[in-house]
Amino acid sequence: MVDKMAELFTKQQISWLDDVDKEGNIINPKHELYGKNIAGSILHMPAASGSTVGADRLVNLAVHGKAPRKIVLERTDPITMWGAILGNIDLEIEGKEKKLIDRSKLDKLGLEPEIAEFLARAGELLGTDEFIPADYVQIAGVSYKTITETGLELRRHFASKYKFRARNVTINPAGMDLEAWQRQNIPEEFAEKQKEIIDLYVKMGALPTITCTPYLVGSTPPPFTDAFLSESSVVTLENSLFAVRTNREAGLSTLLYAIAGYGPRYGLHLQENRNPKLEVKVETKLSGAVDYGLLGYKIGEIANGRIPYITGISSLPTIEEFKELAAASAASGSVDLMHIEGITPEAKHKMIKLDGIEEKVEIDRQTLDELKKELNTAVPEQIDLLAIGCPHASINEIKEVATLIKGKHLKTGKQLWITTSRTVKEIAQKLGYVSIIEEAGGQVVADTCMVVSPIEDLGFATTATNSGKAAKYLPRFCKQKVVFDDIQTLLSKIIE
Ligand code: F3S
Repeated sequence: MVDKMAELFTKQQISWLDDVDKEGNIINPKHELYGKNIAGSILHMPAASGSTVGADRLVNLAVHGKAPRKIVLERTDPITMWGAILGNIDLEIEGKEKKLIDRSKLDKLGLEPEIAEFLARAGELLGTDEFIPADYVQIAGVSYKTITETGLELRRHFASKYKFRARNVTINPAGMDLEAWQRQNIPEEFAEKQKEIIDLYVKMGALPTITCTPYLVGSTPPPFTDAFLSESSVVTLENSLFAVRTNREAGLSTLLYAIAGYGPRYGLHLQENRNPKLEVKVETKLSGAVDYGLLGYKIGEIANGRIPYITGISSLPTIEEFKELAAASAASGSVDLMHIEGITPEAKHKMIKLDGIEEKVEIDRQTLDELKKELNTAVPEQIDLLAIGCPHASINEIKEVATLIKGKHLKTGKQLWITTSRTVKEIAQKLGYVSIIEEAGGQVVADTCMVVSPIEDLGFATTATNSGKAAKYLPRFCKQKVVFDDIQTLLSKIIE
């Protein structure tokens, strides 16, 4: 029942992707608004957490009359902001007057009037009229499952009128393997829509990278470069490890900035906003991607919009460990940037100020163990699908699986997907890893992943993963029970 006059208040962030269903009900049992319906309300919230496709989800709610009438944010949040702009939802940022921007600056950029208007509205809410070249853009909002029909319509609209002016535009995973979707049992209707979305992006000028690990396939902005990225795990990894300067943009804002060739300079583009406010002391030795995923997940839960400064990690994590750390922290909270003492560039070269730290917390082994227990909602015997590769698997992870599985076979009723980019899959093919995995009964699936493909419609009820990010989204967004552990342990449960 929708209460049109309801005014709802929460101090907890909301993930538009998996905290809210399509009727506007809050479905996350851990959320203080659990069970409430936000349709037609005035919703006071700190900011959005989690997926950057949230802007599309908010537009979708608005189109179906299930969005709040007005949203009052505690702080600037591009995801909610762009959902509100394109969904025509009234938006206010607490204590912040809309800035009257100098439109003559936009006039000089040679933009089409519709695009200039969108950038002006963003500038007013963000409080800036400084627009900088958008040369490096990663667009989320590629899977038909995440953007739905409303999102497809929006992309048809923009693709019918514009080409990207940005030069390096990469795109996120799709909802299926574009070359082997029949083998995945993807319905034909879904496949047609999905192919159309990719064609629209490519027609506008995107590179068909179709991965959430562009940094593993040769597309990374140089250090200290301003970029506009909307895959949340890439935002955190590239901001932190490569000192790239990007906010956690919405899928829709990166689409518009790619068209404009310009984006607003605000937030993490400015050095003074990159200082940490939260110190996290790691009181246990970390080993392997699962440990880093658990740490990231825990940090996301406590950061609440603050940039963490991590101490107690003595050696540089591997790229596989860092991608799990970044992805989980962005999914469970909204960590866009983290510094690690003596390791990440801005911490190592003392480019950040530590005198603004307002809280110190410790994370020990017991905390990580308890979280791991909480993420496990099923037992190994129930596994239908073991999916490895969130974010997309590196060649080292594929090699690890091939080595462990060589000469063995999947137990009856169990499936194995290694999800990766097509580029990495081709390398794995050349090295013989793909045939080893296929001979054992598994699949190396390109272009997609277990979260953005419609696994809930493919007969899977329990999915096993080694990814904290996947463990966050699988229960509500994919209606899965979850078994969470490291690659070796999980594989041992499904092979004979
Ligand atoms: Fe990538 Fe899918 Fe995970 S898009 S980060 S593999 S949820």
